[in-house]
Amino acid sequence: MLFNRKDLLGLEFLDKKEIQIILDSVKPFKSLFMRSVKKAPTLVGKTVVTLFYEPSTRTRTSFEIAAKRLSADVVNLAVNASSVVKGESLIDTGKTLAAMNADYIIIRHSMTGAPDILARNLDASVINAGDGFHEHPTQGLLDLYTIFEKKKKFENLKVLLVGDILHSRVAKSNIWALTKMGADVAVAGPPTLIPQGIEKLGVKVFYNLDEALKTADVVNILRIQLERQKENLFPSVHEYVELYQLTKDRLAKAKSNVLVMHPGPMNRGIEISSEVADSVNAVINEQVTNGIAVRMAILFLLKPKANKNAYSD
Ligand code: CP
Repeated sequence: MLFNRKDLLGLEFLDKKEIQIILDSVKPFKSLFMRSVKKAPTLVGKTVVTLFYEPSTRTRTSFEIAAKRLSADVVNLAVNASSVVKGESLIDTGKTLAAMNADYIIIRHSMTGAPDILARNLDASVINAGDGFHEHPTQGLLDLYTIFEKKKKFENLKVLLVGDILHSRVAKSNIWALTKMGADVAVAGPPTLIPQGIEKLGVKVFYNLDEALKTADVVNILRIQLERQKENLFPSVHEYVELYQLTKDRLAKAKSNVLVMHPGPMNRGIEISSEVADSVNAVINEQVTNGIAVRMAILFLLKPKANKNAYSD
């Protein structure tokens, strides 16, 4: 089966085979890192635009490096210095970029569904780099790739997501993809940070982290997103740290080969201690490295519609 999509908007609507095709495509791009010349001609003559309405270190830089390694021309639109601040709508901004023959638009937006709106209105391939609390599909895929690289399987693997599940688009993308691939997914955190009814997605819920950690093969720690909280959802950061921080002592009671992941950015000393973040169990930097190869694979696999004004080659 071929991968036949224009856009990558989320992992909810990809089937298991499509996720497997993406993961299987990553390895050759990762092996490019080992070469002295880290470039392939795959996207020569193509234009990739990044359009980030929210801050980013990893995702935006990773997409830029991925696109440049595939020989694309890359434009990073500085949203705060663009006509967006004069009131230009998302669709008009997208159509303006399309009129400049952008082939790929990579968008991060605080509004759920913003990438979907662009995808329905443009011929360019649209990639969701994080929309509101909804999805962050490339982070989900790089997490899956890293898990498979280390554990060699998904079937019955116990993956625990810890912390602010309610506000986490990373958690949603991980849950959609991991459950399809056959993993046993659980979440742990304070009741106020766990969405009601999440069990319907095939996820087990723990409110006690020590209990949840006992059987986990992988633990993915999520950032407490204080900036997205409209009301105080736990009594104090101090209490959160006491109950839910992944500390050296807690890790000592988990399986000795448990994989510790974090999508970043980390709040060291809040959801994860520095000792754990820098421990031999942690693969946080490997996640970042894999992110480039995963994004190269996605740029390679997606198929923008032919631009109506272009001459054929
Ligand atoms: N993981 C992630 O999305 O990080 P950035 O916000 O730095 O892109």
